[in-house]
Amino acid sequence: MSSTSSTLNVDDKSVELAVKEGTIGPSVVDISKLYGQTGMFTYDPGFTSTAACESKITYIDGDKGILLYRGYPIEQLAEHGDFLETCYLLLYGELPTAAQKADFDYRVTRHTMVHDQMNRFFTGFRRDAHPMAIMVGCVGALSAFYHDSTDISDPHQRMVASMRMIAKMPTLAAMAYKYHVGQPFVYPANELDYTSNFLRMCFAVPAEEYKVNPVLSRALDRIFILHADHEQNASTSTVRLAGSSGANPFACIAAGIACLWGPAHGGANEAALKMLEEIGTPDRIPEYIAKAKDKNDPFRLMGFGHRVYKNYDPRARIMQKTTHEVLNELGVKDDPLLEVAIELEQIALRDEYFVEKKLYPNIDFYSGITLKAMGFPTSMFTVLFALARTVGWIAQWSEMIEDPSQRIGRPRQLYTGSPKRDYVTVAQRG
Ligand code: CMC
Repeated sequence: MSSTSSTLNVDDKSVELAVKEGTIGPSVVDISKLYGQTGMFTYDPGFTSTAACESKITYIDGDKGILLYRGYPIEQLAEHGDFLETCYLLLYGELPTAAQKADFDYRVTRHTMVHDQMNRFFTGFRRDAHPMAIMVGCVGALSAFYHDSTDISDPHQRMVASMRMIAKMPTLAAMAYKYHVGQPFVYPANELDYTSNFLRMCFAVPAEEYKVNPVLSRALDRIFILHADHEQNASTSTVRLAGSSGANPFACIAAGIACLWGPAHGGANEAALKMLEEIGTPDRIPEYIAKAKDKNDPFRLMGFGHRVYKNYDPRARIMQKTTHEVLNELGVKDDPLLEVAIELEQIALRDEYFVEKKLYPNIDFYSGITLKAMGFPTSMFTVLFALARTVGWIAQWSEMIEDPSQRIGRPRQLYTGSPKRDYVTVAQRG
């Protein structure tokens, strides 16, 4: 990283600020000394111009629609790689050799079971609890079950916690689903690969043999790759901020899951499918396009728009292809939701409002149709996102802990409340 400098004139003061350059992407002005030298903060609600950290993990060029994990294009990883290989890449920075891959797969696989008392923890939830509510609770509760991997100053414990999190997330997600639908939990089967094992834990029942469909397993594995990391988005920043105080990794990931749940973030896949179902038929699309454009109507086209991508989300292209593969495999000839989605996309991409604001389909636009066809209920969509994003959260959390310049995250504010005033008793208040 090379450095130059820039001069900022504030009132009568002139401040030299270092400009740091990354390997690709915009440079940053280092304002960490600004307050000390001028007594002023910067103001950037929503962090649209603020780099909160230095990172070597994921790069996005939102204008060109490029997404790289450790330098590798998402298209190549999705086409040729598998999810656990992507996990290794995100965690360690390089693609594994065959021996490293075998060892990593083995280590993850050996951690897939959860403490048996977790079963009882689940039964404390109502059956109609949203699976994301269960995930927030259960992942946070892992810190009460695995005390031997919560000391973040010990690299070995950090590594064990990372493995546990990646391995146990599918088990917990499947348990949340099984509990929700009132079926018995299915224990992990270690002879299966990561994603096939997850499908089995979700859809097998004790009454009959379950055979994993390799096409669906490969498709879901690809969906996991697409969701694995996305640099400093809201949930990842939440994980980093929670971790900056020294909180244990299980608690930090639970915080990330809570943030992901919102409809502007990971909850958009659920919201997008509900929207497509509500639209129902292509003839109603103009009505919904008009609603999305109406300033007085809070309705937004879910699965459209992105803070960073001002071009087609590269993940959405791969997702659309995966949707077709899954529907073909399942023999779904004419899916009315897919018909609405394709037509809606075409109309929006030609509409001046969406063109001018650079609003394109994002990853969540097609993911719901695919997951629904695979048999997942809408309420599980964001859980699957959380499962896949866990490795990104862990990789970003580890990078932060290992960064020697790491300090507790503590944003400042522009205070616009009342100046100091004196207390008045109730009797004196008008
Ligand atoms: N439908 C209609 N108008 C929209 C939409 C949309 N989906 N998204 C943005 N706009 C308009 C918005 O009204 C605003 O208009 P104006 O400038 O006239 O006030 C302009 O576009 C910019 O929007 P913004 O809210 O300032 O942009 P943002 O960067 O703060 O928000 C977003 C990004 C993803 C939250 C937003 O596009 C959105 O709410 N999309 C729908 C939810 C969604 O699909 N989220 C998934 C994101 S991808 C997966 C993930 O990261 O979790």
